[in-house]
Amino acid sequence: MTLAIMGAMPEEIAPILEKLENYKTTNYAGNRYYEASYNGIKLVIAYSKIGKVFSTLTATTLCEHFGAKKLLFSGVAGAISHKLKIGDLIVATQLTQHDLDITAFGHPFGYVPEGAVFVEADKEMIEISKEVAKEMGKSVQEGIIATGDQFVANEERKNWIGETFGADALEMEGASVAVVCDALDVPFFILRAISDAADMDASFSFDEFLETSAVESAEFVMRMVDKLSR
Ligand code: ADE
Repeated sequence: MTLAIMGAMPEEIAPILEKLENYKTTNYAGNRYYEASYNGIKLVIAYSKIGKVFSTLTATTLCEHFGAKKLLFSGVAGAISHKLKIGDLIVATQLTQHDLDITAFGHPFGYVPEGAVFVEADKEMIEISKEVAKEMGKSVQEGIIATGDQFVANEERKNWIGETFGADALEMEGASVAVVCDALDVPFFILRAISDAADMDASFSFDEFLETSAVESAEFVMRMVDKLSR
């Protein structure tokens, strides 16, 4: 079985590569892919670069070129819910594109014909994440993650996303990865650790907490991989 682990930025996959003894690097479609054997399964790991377009390309490549049968995303997010603090983990139950707007034609935000406002993450992996959280003694929240090609550093925009989609956190890749995996029938799991509150201090907070929050997320995802490879 081949399992994909994906991030958007180098910092998001560095803690995962550090855990592997050795891996093979392949350049493909303008990106680097890292392949390793782990607990008897094959892992393929990559960061996509930021945003929906690059993450679509990478998720598609992981599934179609490298044959990933499951995909786990590890990274950081901005909090919308007041319950989420820096370093806290959120597991996406559903993902949506907050910047997808053809409301001029009477459609809801996040919708295009033949698409769906929300894409659901794999329920089995969400169940496994509950076991992992228990074993690690961590409280992990579940919720809706909203994705857009925008670093949100504005209270008003953040609140609009929260109210319009019922979203708990926001980032820039989850929903595009979800659309790809859903279309290709590849079960997916999206985990994010909070790096900022998507407010006026977001860029400073992001710079300060990117690495530590990315480590929180990556450690959890590797515990998921341990369970999935058993
Ligand atoms: N990822 C982490 N923080 C974010 C923010 N404030 N906006 C978009 N993506 C993010």
